Amino acid sequence: MRKKIVAGNWKMNKTLDEAKALLSEVVNMIKDEVIETSNRGDVTVVICPPSIYLTTSRQYIPSGGRIMLGAQNCHEKESGAYTGDVSASMLKSVGVEYIIVGHSERRQYFGETNAQLAEKVDRVLENGLVPIFCCGESLDLRENGDYVGFVKGQLTDSLFHLSAEALANVVVAYEPIWAIGTGLTASSAQAQEMHFEIRQHIASKYGDAVAQDISILYGGSANEKNAADLFAQPDVDGGLIGGASLKSREFTNVIKAR
Ligand code: PGA
Repeated sequence: MRKKIVAGNWKMNKTLDEAKALLSEVVNMIKDEVIETSNRGDVTVVICPPSIYLTTSRQYIPSGGRIMLGAQNCHEKESGAYTGDVSASMLKSVGVEYIIVGHSERRQYFGETNAQLAEKVDRVLENGLVPIFCCGESLDLRENGDYVGFVKGQLTDSLFHLSAEALANVVVAYEPIWAIGTGLTASSAQAQEMHFEIRQHIASKYGDAVAQDISILYGGSANEKNAADLFAQPDVDGGLIGGASLKSREFTNVIKAR
């Protein structure tokens, strides 16, 4: 059974005091409204603050509950002379459970390649954590190119070296670059089309049973207004939420839409 997941990616936002305030609001709202008083208790919520706040954030999130702590990135090596970076094992040691890998901003601004992301996925899985592997095409590709083939290539290059057992622990996030932070959400039909293609592509390598169990999240200007439509699509298992995760009420409304 694939999981329903709503993950909040705070990116490079919030001071420590702001982060503490947002986190305690979100945790309390989820406890009071989303998990305990609704039928949405099966949603896993992942909160991904900036790495400097992870240790503090851990103290705000009850262990063993439905809210998980996530990181926004990790290095592809286990340890070593990589000034300024953090490894998957370091993130694990402060209580991180999920790690976003290959966000388009990492690909764009830090030149992360599919091969490098394959290594990151390996480090995350070796540490027993869950990678949220991001894929998605640019506007130019969407309008003029084989965007489905491009996204399939990202999956092939960074995930298809995994065994079926390992792949079962991966969460995929489809995030069309043209929809991230732009207010241009993919329509529900566009999201469904790509999520279906992604699942088919996984099925072509690993078989239908494996593909049906993988959670595929949508990301890109998802918010409290459009989340219900997006999440109603049969192959959309939740969302990776940027801007709308920075406000407690909006984020919990997105969770309720799932
Ligand atoms: P957005 O970001 O919701 O602000 O578009 C999503 C993401 O980049 O994960």
